[in-house]
Amino acid sequence: MTPIIIANWKMNLSLNQRKNLALDLKKKIGQIIDHEVVICPSFISLVQISEILKGSEIKLGAQDVFWEESGAYTGEISPKILKDINCEYAIVGHSERRQNFGENDEMVNKRTRTCLDNDLIPIICVGETAQEHQDGRADNIVLLQLTRALQDIDLVDQDQIVVVYEPVWAVGTGHIVSDEEADHMFKLIRQIMIDLYSLTIINNNVRLIYGGSVNDKNVKKLADNDLISGFLVGGASLNVDQFVNIVKSIT
Ligand code: PGA
Repeated sequence: MTPIIIANWKMNLSLNQRKNLALDLKKKIGQIIDHEVVICPSFISLVQISEILKGSEIKLGAQDVFWEESGAYTGEISPKILKDINCEYAIVGHSERRQNFGENDEMVNKRTRTCLDNDLIPIICVGETAQEHQDGRADNIVLLQLTRALQDIDLVDQDQIVVVYEPVWAVGTGHIVSDEEADHMFKLIRQIMIDLYSLTIINNNVRLIYGGSVNDKNVKKLADNDLISGFLVGGASLNVDQFVNIVKSIT
C-alpha cells in the first residue's frame, strides 16, 4: 500500500503560523503522489487549511472526532462536520487523549466505528507507557488496545484504517524504538490483524505505521523495516524543512 506520513500539529502554533506552514508544505510537497501526506491541525484551522490545500495532493485530518453525528454535545465535532470541510482522516485514541482526557478503549472503538460509517479514515493509536514497557507488558497492552478498538468492527472493501504503534515513552522524548523492538511489535500487530481480518483486507485496506520522536535523522532507518508503512510525526512536523525532509527521505 502507499506509505503515509501524517503531521500531528497538536495544540501548537498561532493561526497565522499554521496557515503559513500549510502554504509552505503545499508549495514544497503538494504534488507528491507516490505516498500520502496528511496534515492534522487544530480544529479551529481546519476550514482555512482545507481551502489552502485545494489543488494539492496533501490530505486533511482531524486530531479527534466525536462518535455522534449531531445533537446536544457542547464542544464536540462530529464526523459529518469534518466531512463537510473535506477532512478525510481522524486520529483516534492518541495517548495524550488517553492520559489527559480519560479516553478509554470503548471510546476509541466508538470513534473508529463512526469514522468508518462516515467515510473517514481512522488513525488508531496504540502503545504502552514507560512503566508498562519496563514491566514487560507492552505486548499485552497493544493487544488489548487494538482488539478493543476494533471490537465488532467488520472491515469491508472500501474501508481503510491506519494503525499507529506509538509507544507513550517515545512521544516527544527523543527516544525511538530499537530495530528489534520495532520488528517484534510490528510482527505482533500484523498477527493481531490477521486474527481479526482476511489477508486481502490487511494487505489492501490497513496501514501499520510508527509514531514517537520521528525526525529527519531517524526516519530512514525506521522506514527500512518492511512492516512499517508510514509515520505519525509530532514535533518534527512543526518545522517545514524537517517535515519536508522526512517526506522526501521515504519517497
Ligand atoms: P512526537 O509526537 O513526534 O513529537 O514524538 C508524535 C505524536 O504524538 O503523534
